[in-house]
Amino acid sequence: MNKLCLLGLLVSLASQTALAAAPAEPLKNKDAFISDLLKQMTVEEKIGQLRLISIGPEMPRELIRKEIAAGRIGGTFNSITRDENRPMQDAAINNSRLKIPMFFAYDVIHGHRTIFPISLGLASSWDMDAIARVGRTSAIEAASDGIDMTFAPMVDIARDPRWGRTSEGFGEDTYLVSRISRVMVESFQGQSPANADSIMAAVKHFALYGAVEGGRDYNTVDMSPAKMYNDYLPPYRAAIDAGAGGVMVALNSINGVPATSNTWLMNDLLRKEWGFKGVTVSDHGAIGELVRHGVAKDGREAAKLAIKAGIDLSMNDSLYGEDLPTLLKSGEVSQADLDNAVREILGAKYDMGLFKDPYVRIGQAKDDPADVYADSRLHRDTARDVARRSLVLLENRNQTLPLKKAGTIALVGPLADAPIDMMGSWAAAGRPKHSVTVRKGLETALGDKAKLVYAKGSNITADKAIVDYLNFLNFDAPEIIDDPRPAAVLIDEAVKAAQQSDVVVAVVGESRGMSHESSSRTSLEIPAAQRELIKALKATGKPLVLVLMNGRPLALAWEREQADAILETWFSGTEGGNAIADVLLGDYNPSGKLAITFPRSVGQIPMYYNHLRIGRPFTPGKPGNYTSQYFEEPNGPLYPFGYGLSYSDFSLSKLSLSAKTLKQGQNLDASVVVKNTGKRDGETVVQLYIQDVAASMSRPVKELKNFQKVMLKAGEERTLHFSIKADDLKFWNNQLQFAAEPGEFNVQIGLDSEAVQQQSFELL
Ligand code: NOJ
Repeated sequence: MNKLCLLGLLVSLASQTALAAAPAEPLKNKDAFISDLLKQMTVEEKIGQLRLISIGPEMPRELIRKEIAAGRIGGTFNSITRDENRPMQDAAINNSRLKIPMFFAYDVIHGHRTIFPISLGLASSWDMDAIARVGRTSAIEAASDGIDMTFAPMVDIARDPRWGRTSEGFGEDTYLVSRISRVMVESFQGQSPANADSIMAAVKHFALYGAVEGGRDYNTVDMSPAKMYNDYLPPYRAAIDAGAGGVMVALNSINGVPATSNTWLMNDLLRKEWGFKGVTVSDHGAIGELVRHGVAKDGREAAKLAIKAGIDLSMNDSLYGEDLPTLLKSGEVSQADLDNAVREILGAKYDMGLFKDPYVRIGQAKDDPADVYADSRLHRDTARDVARRSLVLLENRNQTLPLKKAGTIALVGPLADAPIDMMGSWAAAGRPKHSVTVRKGLETALGDKAKLVYAKGSNITADKAIVDYLNFLNFDAPEIIDDPRPAAVLIDEAVKAAQQSDVVVAVVGESRGMSHESSSRTSLEIPAAQRELIKALKATGKPLVLVLMNGRPLALAWEREQADAILETWFSGTEGGNAIADVLLGDYNPSGKLAITFPRSVGQIPMYYNHLRIGRPFTPGKPGNYTSQYFEEPNGPLYPFGYGLSYSDFSLSKLSLSAKTLKQGQNLDASVVVKNTGKRDGETVVQLYIQDVAASMSRPVKELKNFQKVMLKAGEERTLHFSIKADDLKFWNNQLQFAAEPGEFNVQIGLDSEAVQQQSFELL
């Protein structure tokens, strides 16, 4: 027997013993089981359960195991293999007094090993089946790496694209994000979070993190209760209603009170009003940050505020451990405060199936994958299919796209062959070596049918300070790989490639780190170095296709004038390059629609489609004076919410309502005929918006209330039906009553949020 086999045998024996030593089959009744366990725990063991630590290079493994054995750690995050997690679970099960299992968490946001498009891209698919496949596949992959919980979905509504985390969420719209929130939770957790191939979802960041002032990360949020309830809270609520086992609490303050010490938020709203029964977790270091927020004078007070407000698990903070013992002794924190927090953590472990089998996801060493990075562990077909669905065609003049698989194509741009950027931020256990870049995807698809000439053309940015900042974000490897040649030389090479080609494809935009946590921007423009490249390419007179990679809306007014076609690809994941090639070459007909408005300029922010009605609205085509507008540039967005082209054309007609009135408790049918008037089969998204004509308070100009994504063959038409209930008309008024107010409503149906047809009815 060689050394490796011997080691394997020993480890597998160890885990079998561990299994034998695990507590016997838990009591059937969860509450009784946990109460019983709580009675056996010392104060130190209870406080230990509240501690969630990050596994990083700075944490010696042996020390962690000792701490676990002493009952001083409840769970960890950032370890991503069974092999890493097993010894920690062994320490809990074999060496700790009460054998309470550990749990292992990770940020599985848009994939685990297979990386799918970033969330903003997933939302652009408007395809709930595709999104469900992403959640399920991610759960299966993460669970098979010994992970029990994900800090996802991230459902913060984002209406200020300067915020770097816009990329991590599903866009600006309450209804769309809420639908996706539900699907993500259900698909992560599967039939039950206790299943071996499920992971528990901890929805984040509760609450309103997307509304940070000025788009500056971690900043303050000041918001009226009606706006919170109508626009920002529903996606978290949808996750809770779908059974999310956890909630991660936001880093921002809300109307002056940090979320981490916000009793109204965690107690009154989350637990009492919404009936949440799961576990809450603070964000990284957030308890200590209460001192910097200026609501706690020291760490001791911070710990007290956090536990009293309802933070159960403390993420990478030492304060609970340091200060709870004396806070308990002095009576400032009660035994009940501590027990409540511990109860939720044990409850989550119970729900994850860990008391029944602490190794439910870690399995036995003999079954560990020989190579955790093996390509065979990836789900490439699903990734390619979902990525294709997330791409949004923004422009296509003179049918520049799809490209012919013939002649010569110039492929240029700093993102054309960028495996790290393909993955987007929060790429979990994804590895750049698995990414199919645009260059690779086009090479494979074209084979020897057409010639591909590649030139980088420019670096991401010429600004060294920005490069240093972005590189600092990545501990493992440089994020930005700069070509040291002078900019003029790079451009020259790209121009030469363009001159010898029939068409130019320029892959430009942001590096992934530019759309990330703590990467807020003051500009939404493509960096100047890349714009110089675009200008030079345009001057060649060759048809120019811009393939964009970015994690937020960009200001593209100038680019729109330069390009013949623009394809928005976000950061499209492991199979992104193949998916992009499928669309560029016409093997897939694009069907994505924007889940967020693209403004013309950063000065227009905030710009979102469903703003409240006002007294002096700007009306396109009418004089602007004394209306709400900017006078130096055209008003309205560059690309509205819900917008996206196809290689086919679609028309809507015959919008009709089944009745002119609707009674409370009844339904109304809105129908519309959608036709594929083009020459190719394709999918489109038919969107239904509602406007409350006059209410007790100003209501949005329109609000998405339903949509259907339909596939139509060339020339095919179909009548779609949407059922409208009085419940769909409800909103939270200024007294926070949730009701539908009688009166007139406009139903608007369109293929984007702007070009709509309208009919009215009255709610009796
Ligand atoms: C901080 C981020 O805000 C949060 O989203 C993430 O889940 C944690 N770090 C853990 O990585």
